[in-house]
Amino acid sequence: MPETHSQDQAIVRWLSICLFLIFAMVILGGVTRLTDSGLSMVNWRPLHGILPPLSQQQWQEEFSHYQQSPEFQKINSDMDVSAFKSIFWFEYSHRLLGRLIGIVFLIPFLYFWWRKQIKPGLTPKLIIMFCLGGFQGLLGWYMVKSGLVNNPHVSQYRLTAHLMSAILIYGFILWVMLDLIRVRDYRPLAESNIKPWRGWSLGLTALLLITIVSGGFVAGLDAGLIYNTFPLMGGEWVPQGIAALTPWYQNLFENKVTVQFDHRVLAITTGVLLIGWYLKGRRHFGDNSINSSFKLIGMMVIIQLALGISTLLFKVPVWLAAAHQAGALLLFSAMLMNSHILSRQ
Ligand code: HEM
Repeated sequence: MPETHSQDQAIVRWLSICLFLIFAMVILGGVTRLTDSGLSMVNWRPLHGILPPLSQQQWQEEFSHYQQSPEFQKINSDMDVSAFKSIFWFEYSHRLLGRLIGIVFLIPFLYFWWRKQIKPGLTPKLIIMFCLGGFQGLLGWYMVKSGLVNNPHVSQYRLTAHLMSAILIYGFILWVMLDLIRVRDYRPLAESNIKPWRGWSLGLTALLLITIVSGGFVAGLDAGLIYNTFPLMGGEWVPQGIAALTPWYQNLFENKVTVQFDHRVLAITTGVLLIGWYLKGRRHFGDNSINSSFKLIGMMVIIQLALGISTLLFKVPVWLAAAHQAGALLLFSAMLMNSHILSRQ
């Protein structure tokens, strides 16, 4: 069993701080969307935008930019500066945290690199993480831009892409961290004596990601504000209007009814399969840490299903919807830990 070098431990500690900040960033992004704050800053100034307005005059200036935007003109025309401040702070904090993550990543990276403390093969992965972080910022701006046009509504496609990209970056960092903790070395699939288990774990993780994508579309279309009953939708298993758009595939991404229906079906299917996965694996292996990874999945999936159903029944209150988003990330983490530990057997 190879031991973790103390240098690797320092890198693991640094990456775990970055991971925590990314987690917070995803939740803050969700709250920004849920409070309708995401279109309050109409300019993208990666360097200059670091300071918020500090004087009354600067607030007035920032507000006057917002007043030019379609969202103000079509939806919030009765908003004054003080109401504007409250939506501004969410978006501002989200962008500030993004910059902070960049710094918390870059400075220790340069330090470890300069001290030659990064082991062979890891530097390219760290550089990829940094580039993906920059790309995530660009994607965020691309998403915001879609709401600064005539129809002040952020595109559900771009919102889901921004969410998925954040989740994949988070997953990549977590995986690399688990590699560094390396309780055991990776075992090639051909040599593994639990091949089907490994295949299932990866397959279920992929299914979970598809469910998360479908959740992104529910969020992006505000489709959680209709049919607030469970399990039936408007008294029916298959609701009216599910195939209202043509061509048919447009319903999958642009029809609120279909998008909510799909998320329910995918979530319940994923939920049932993951509960089955937990029941099958929780006592199967001689190794306690493997069994615990199954128990974590069992616990998280029940919580996540309960959060999703409550979010729907209570018509998407900010705190519940944010908790549901956090739950998705935690369930994804549990699945990755499971896949990772099985890939060593
Ligand atoms: C495996 C289980 C589930 C996963 C992984 C999951 C994941 C997600 C994700 C990632 C989002 C987007 C959150 C955001 O961007 O703010 C979402 C939204 C949503 N989900 Fe789920 N979900 C699950 C189960 C459910 C269930 C069972 C329901 C209800 C029947 C549900 C109802 C909703 C609703 C109403 C939203 C929109 C909330 C909003 O506008 O913020 N989810 N889900």
